Amino acid sequence: MGMKQQLKRMARSALVPLIYRYPPFVLAPERLYLLLHHLIETKDVPGSVVEVGCNLGGTTVIAKKMLDRLGIAKPYVCIDTFDGFVAEQFASDVELGTPLSDQEMFSGNSKELVARILRQHQCDDVELIQGDIATLAVEALPAKCSVALIDVDLTEPTYVALKRLWPRMAPGGVILVDDCPPASSWKARDGYMRFCNEYGVEQKYLHGMGIVAG
Ligand SMILES: C[S@@+](CC[C@H](N)C(=O)[O-])C[C@H]1O[C@@H](n2cnc3c(N)ncnc32)[C@H](O)[C@@H]1O
Repeated sequence: MGMKQQLKRMARSALVPLIYRYPPFVLAPERLYLLLHHLIETKDVPGSVVEVGCNLGGTTVIAKKMLDRLGIAKPYVCIDTFDGFVAEQFASDVELGTPLSDQEMFSGNSKELVARILRQHQCDDVELIQGDIATLAVEALPAKCSVALIDVDLTEPTYVALKRLWPRMAPGGVILVDDCPPASSWKARDGYMRFCNEYGVEQKYLHGMGIVAG
């Protein structure tokens, strides 16, 4: 880790209680709505809620609090590198038009920082798993899922996350893929389309999210 990133981490750590007193989510409001809607709709579907790409845990806090308030008791699992994009995965999307300047957008994070933010918001029972979704050990993935939010922005990890999670979805479950509007500098939609074409799954879009029914 470079000196700049270390300093960024130290400064942020000291200011955590102040900076993160409100959940630091980056999901667009209409997509957050869609996630919360499906979490409620699938309340009786068994299996974990999985967020692939949780960044600082802001969406996690909002979703988990809602589940708790509604008495929907399911494991909530977040999978992230906790240090931003995997270099090769990002490089492939630069060739498709993703600006190189976005490469460090989610770096300088850490699992400890996210755990601290979750604790601050009384969400300490969320499970955090560190790793690249494309190469994470199969045993680390939840055995059964009711809702999966895939929010990793790039083509390859989106495609692989879909391939790995789809067989784990309970009947009635749903996968939501963020960043799938018709035109975007993020190429998640390419990964979603590739998955749908290969697996014969109908493409369905709402509010810029790709949707896969389990
Ligand atoms: C847009 S942010 C997630 C935002 C979060 N869901 C929210 O609503 O606040 C994208 C996240 O994907 C993570 N990520 C990118 N590539 C990944 C990969 N191959 N495996 C796991 N996580 C990855 C990044 O570290 C970053 O935290």
